[in-house]
Amino acid sequence: MAPRPMFTTTPMKKTSNEKHNFGAVIEGIDLEDISDSEVKALADAIWTHKLVIVKGQHHVRPIKQWELVTRFDPDAPLVHSHGDLKTFNKQGGLLSKGRDVYGVPGAENVRLIGKGYQGHDHFGLKGTTVRKEPGHAWHNDPLSDEEYTKGHTRFQRWHIDAPLYARDPALFTTLRCFKRPTQPNVTIHWDDASDHTITTEPGLTAFFSNVQMYDLMTDDERRIADHSWVEYAPHPYQWMGNCKSKSTGLGLVSQGKEKTFEDLSPYEEEDVKRYPMVWVNPVTGERAFMVHGICVRRAFMRSSLDEDAQVVDDVVEIRRWLSNIQERVLRPEYIMNPKVEEGDIIMWANWQMFHSAVDYPDHWGARTMHQANVGSSRAPVGPTPIPVSA
Ligand SMILES: [Fe+2]
Repeated sequence: MAPRPMFTTTPMKKTSNEKHNFGAVIEGIDLEDISDSEVKALADAIWTHKLVIVKGQHHVRPIKQWELVTRFDPDAPLVHSHGDLKTFNKQGGLLSKGRDVYGVPGAENVRLIGKGYQGHDHFGLKGTTVRKEPGHAWHNDPLSDEEYTKGHTRFQRWHIDAPLYARDPALFTTLRCFKRPTQPNVTIHWDDASDHTITTEPGLTAFFSNVQMYDLMTDDERRIADHSWVEYAPHPYQWMGNCKSKSTGLGLVSQGKEKTFEDLSPYEEEDVKRYPMVWVNPVTGERAFMVHGICVRRAFMRSSLDEDAQVVDDVVEIRRWLSNIQERVLRPEYIMNPKVEEGDIIMWANWQMFHSAVDYPDHWGARTMHQANVGSSRAPVGPTPIPVSA
């Protein structure tokens, strides 16, 4: 028998104003029935394009999405990167605050993400209404209900999907679209000193590439980033759970609201995470500047292998250094809100990208998405090793 044809991969089109350099559409694959060689080819496509939309998966059973993410990383422990739901709801800090998170019955590691009424019977979730506060609720500068109701929205929180404690960040995240409103458009406002806005359909996720961010850094900054590392707080989302965000959703407003370690759930020193600032793409060799600034407690800075690292434990100073770099890519031309339609599954290289939800007024309609990823089998690798004694 002739081998099944591999799927097609088509880079996403962009207008002359857009400068982002990621994204492809994949067609001709059936995630209900996918061979090992297709899993490998799909993983390579995600690493290469950073983000793909897999079309035409209406028929796929929820458990197959979970199986796929475990096949992407066969040595990974069989648990969602944020752990089991009970622990997540109790210890998730900022991430579980202000929203309901459900597991899909029979596929509990597939998380129902969205809001509003989910229908009479959504894969066994009966008559469920998902409650959540608006995405900008954690922003320091308020957005008036009146503006929001008219479709003035913001990036909620730029992030990677990563517990940054105990488990390592998922290689990829997968997000399946069942339902979202498609109109009217929202207008995303930076609501800072810039007058940047993006107008887009509601219910989408925004992305930028941290490889592109790395490309926008100076040679000196890259030399430092290539040799330096950061340490995240224990239970980082509890630690910064009372902190507020800038109105762009990228970075915290420093107000000294971080908790003391005594106020956190018990933690193990060995579970505290230290990662290089730059993560190398295992397929393309590209470098991404991957610092999740809102959770960083200390930075270890040096610009060559033979230097002793300078320890920076002033989070205000660290955040200032990071914002200066990270905000360069936070411009409309580098951001994409890929149009995900019912039956699509979007998959992205979580080790290379930042993403953010973009909320819309509740009365525009319900949103139903299934999110799945698996805590990685291994820690991200930088261009130079972190000293073992670090
Ligand atoms: Fe996320």
